[in-house]
Amino acid sequence: MREGVRIGFVPTMGALHEGHRALIRAARLRCAALVVSIFVNPTQFGPREDLAKYPRPIRQDRALCRKEGVDVCFEPTVEAMYPNGFQTMVTLPTIARRWEGEARPHHFSGVATVVTKLFGMVRPHLALFGQKDFQQSVVVRRLVQDLNLGVEIVVCPTVREADGLAMSSRNIYLSPDDRVRATTLYKSLQTGAEAIRNGVVDGEAVRSAMAQVVKKEPAITIDYLAVCDPTTLEPLPTVTGKVVLLGAVRIGPTRLIDNILVVAKQARRKF
Ligand code: PAF
Repeated sequence: MREGVRIGFVPTMGALHEGHRALIRAARLRCAALVVSIFVNPTQFGPREDLAKYPRPIRQDRALCRKEGVDVCFEPTVEAMYPNGFQTMVTLPTIARRWEGEARPHHFSGVATVVTKLFGMVRPHLALFGQKDFQQSVVVRRLVQDLNLGVEIVVCPTVREADGLAMSSRNIYLSPDDRVRATTLYKSLQTGAEAIRNGVVDGEAVRSAMAQVVKKEPAITIDYLAVCDPTTLEPLPTVTGKVVLLGAVRIGPTRLIDNILVVAKQARRKF
């Protein structure tokens, strides 16, 4: 059993933005000691992904941590995390298979492995993740439960730019034109949420309303748009209760993901 001060933990890959700041502040409210890790985890990148060019503004990141009163900025090296002989990987065959898992087959195994390792090293009472990576938060909750990791997980709302684009360290990859187009994904999710709030219960009809918004923008291709159960991430033929709308699109070389949680009309009436 851990004793002493309550430790809050925000795991990150650096390139910290307002979304990370919100996680750090939420952790500060709940914990006496605050650890932020900055580690660009190679095992969660595919061979053709952006590991080499992932932004690493370490001085800026340290300054943000200092300003926010972070007690420990933990910056392990790749060699410390994955020394010679390392071989244990954590996999979640069902929940990690769909959506992001289809486009990025080893991604969640890399995430689950590094999060398990970081939890073992930092031994936090509480860890905070952003809703922006919704599937990741579901994977982490499952992982903590399945492996009895004893860490309380808090998922904080997505922080958005003024025009609705979800904040992400990868938004810097967008060209000025693509940056304007990038709001389409959130607009599409909002359209889906609006349809549900207006009483549409056919999951495919909601999905199709979302797709129509994206299709108006020829420069964007849809990876997936889905209406899902927020716990299992299975697609819902009929919308009922709390649902998550998930989306991933490609704009030029950049891939964006986003999501919205929404409560269907008939369920809200019961409260
Ligand atoms: O969300 C992220 O930044 C990463 O996936 C995480 C949780 C820090 C693991 O590398």
